[in-house]
Amino acid sequence: MTTSASLDRTRLARLMADERARFASEHPQSAALHDRARASLLDGVPMPWMVKWAGPWPLYVETAAGAHFACVDGHDYVDFCLGDTGAMAGHGPGPTIAAVERQLRRGLTHMLPTEDAAWVGEELTRRFRLGSWQFALSATDANRWALRLARHISGRSKVVVHDHCYHGSVDEAIAVLDGSGLVVPVRGSVGPQVDVAHTTRVVEFNDVDGLAAALSDRDVAAVLIEPALTNVGIVLPEPGYLEAVREITRRTGTLLIIDETHTICAGPAGATGLWNLEPDMLVIGKTIGGGIPVAAYGFSAEIAARIRGSITVEDSDVGGIGGTLAGYALSLAATRATLGEVLTAEAFERMIPLAARWEAGVRDVIRTADVPWHVTRLGARAEYHFMPDPPRTGAEQWARADPELERFLHLWAMNRRILMTPFHNMALMSPATVAADVDRHTEIFAEAIEALFG
Ligand SMILES: Cc1ncc(COP(=O)(O)O)c(C=O)c1O
Repeated sequence: MTTSASLDRTRLARLMADERARFASEHPQSAALHDRARASLLDGVPMPWMVKWAGPWPLYVETAAGAHFACVDGHDYVDFCLGDTGAMAGHGPGPTIAAVERQLRRGLTHMLPTEDAAWVGEELTRRFRLGSWQFALSATDANRWALRLARHISGRSKVVVHDHCYHGSVDEAIAVLDGSGLVVPVRGSVGPQVDVAHTTRVVEFNDVDGLAAALSDRDVAAVLIEPALTNVGIVLPEPGYLEAVREITRRTGTLLIIDETHTICAGPAGATGLWNLEPDMLVIGKTIGGGIPVAAYGFSAEIAARIRGSITVEDSDVGGIGGTLAGYALSLAATRATLGEVLTAEAFERMIPLAARWEAGVRDVIRTADVPWHVTRLGARAEYHFMPDPPRTGAEQWARADPELERFLHLWAMNRRILMTPFHNMALMSPATVAADVDRHTEIFAEAIEALFG
């Protein structure tokens, strides 16, 4: 059997050099823009992590529409990254663009609500069965504010998150377990405001006993979770795990916050709908605005009652839940159109079978070549992992990450006009994705496996 462990690293390095040369020769315009940007942007990129793209420099985008984009060098790409879920509705979905264009002429931000706010609240209530909603412009802020409210109403200080979680740049969540079980900052954590060991307890995903121990002192305000990990790679909950999380949080008076920002891929009501979860609070960002910044966080009736009246009118603008443009007219117009006409139940009925097709294609290639990798899927999102069995925890997945191999596979795909989600091997379907896009990936993935192991 061929194994990734016995992968020929010399061969990989040679293949990588070929791919880098191919990328360089095919992207002179991107190269020129990157050189220009070096003069005014730190490392030539607008966000630090953009230095991590697999090519020698990032692609510069000319236009994007549906499930495709074109780079400034005139190449057309199938986009399975979809802005890491920000463009899960597809690039420029028609109804969202029409609503945004309408709103552009009707006022963008006025510190007053529009009718769209009530419509979006009603739609989120219908989907997630939580009755009270508030808005933010990023999932990070929505998580921050949910945690603040959780501490406020519970009078407790600590937060629990999963090992290798990601909930945006939320200070309490930039924490992992070290080898000896201590809570430490994530590698690369930049200037932590407070030592995460003071704010946070970290438990392994799928570890019921670990969670029970972390909550036993009843000093934890909230457990903030993705119902399946998605950012270290997809790690699915074992049967009974999420039920146990709910039972233990209820028993210890701890609030359960579910972050559906990525797991909305599971269906129109995300994993909460799919698995009948009962969070006290729910956060969702990125995709619901169809590309316009927006996020929402909602509360159960009980939590809403505890919040209501606990913040005086005089204090309601300075208490740490802010954002002048949060809930502004443009973002809610875009969200109404995106939820109402783009990310509908019917759209998921097309997207999920496409992800299943992607999964089946990749699985066939892996099995035929006898490579000990496997593929996981959650609704409209699928991913292959460099290990034969599904990981149970974030740490297991992390231990098998192979940045060198991953960069090669991403660059191989990019050179064949496919964009994967960076930093792991994930593909997301949009309502505009079609079977030919999926099949093209299967084809070039098979070629990559042949080049590596054949
Ligand atoms: C689960 C989850 N929550 C929150 C966030 C933060 O989103 P944003 O960066 O838009 O604030 C992310 C970002 O990847 C995420 O994956």
